[in-house]
Amino acid sequence: MLAKKELKRPIPPAPTGACTIAIVDNYLKEIKSGMKVLEIGCGVWSKTLDHCNKVGAHYEGLDVQEEYYGIKCIATRIENLADLSYSDSEFDIVIGNQTMEHWAQHGCTMEWGLYQCFRVVRPGGRVFLNVPIHFHGTKYFLHGKLKKIEKLFSKFSNNVKFESWGNPSDPIAPYYPHPNYQALKDKPAYVLDIESVKDRELPKGVSNTLGFNGRLSQIFHNSISYNLYRVRSKVFNG
Ligand SMILES: C[S@@+](CC[C@H](N)C(=O)[O-])C[C@H]1O[C@@H](n2cnc3c(N)ncnc32)[C@H](O)[C@@H]1O
Repeated sequence: MLAKKELKRPIPPAPTGACTIAIVDNYLKEIKSGMKVLEIGCGVWSKTLDHCNKVGAHYEGLDVQEEYYGIKCIATRIENLADLSYSDSEFDIVIGNQTMEHWAQHGCTMEWGLYQCFRVVRPGGRVFLNVPIHFHGTKYFLHGKLKKIEKLFSKFSNNVKFESWGNPSDPIAPYYPHPNYQALKDKPAYVLDIESVKDRELPKGVSNTLGFNGRLSQIFHNSISYNLYRVRSKVFNG
């Protein structure tokens, strides 16, 4: 098997990727000339950057990694969301495609990451995040803890719209990324789109407690059953 670093992009996209494209097309309709847009966890996908250039909006992209599967990220700043260095209220729109489920794996808790997104967006500005459910990432997303995700967003916005795409399976075929993991048996992956407005003050007392990397993050931000499943899969599949 090739080491992760040696992999040339792309690993085949998940079927849910088709939903993400349609979701991002909806975000792009909101971007107008003169706006300032920040994309969190931009990776190498330049759809939003290209659109900003086309309509005359200013684009900033943030990623914690310089490369994604051997290809240079399009980020204008290589930085962790946990340490976001942009000023308060600097952006009209903050976008994150398929990134929030990974924040805690890179030392930025979901709550702290959301705090940073809402800090840098102007009052009345929009935060658009889409995440895979039952696919990968930290436990709220892997296990589809929608109530917990909703509670988290309610600290930052009174106006949050959640929309499931590809759930239960239409228009994509049912897709089970972890066929041997009992907890996700009969739970196909889909995409959750979360669109919110900055319509309230930032909450007080939010911090990056439990913002761990690596193994510690796995222990704290994944379920026990998933940790055991990963260990078992490693032992048996090498
Ligand atoms: C699954 S990729 C998605 C990339 C791109 N948005 C796309 O849709 O193709 C997740 C990206 O989020 C970035 N990321 C994850 N956690 C982050 C954090 N705490 N701060 C900044 N970037 C992060 C990763 O480095 C990675 O490039």
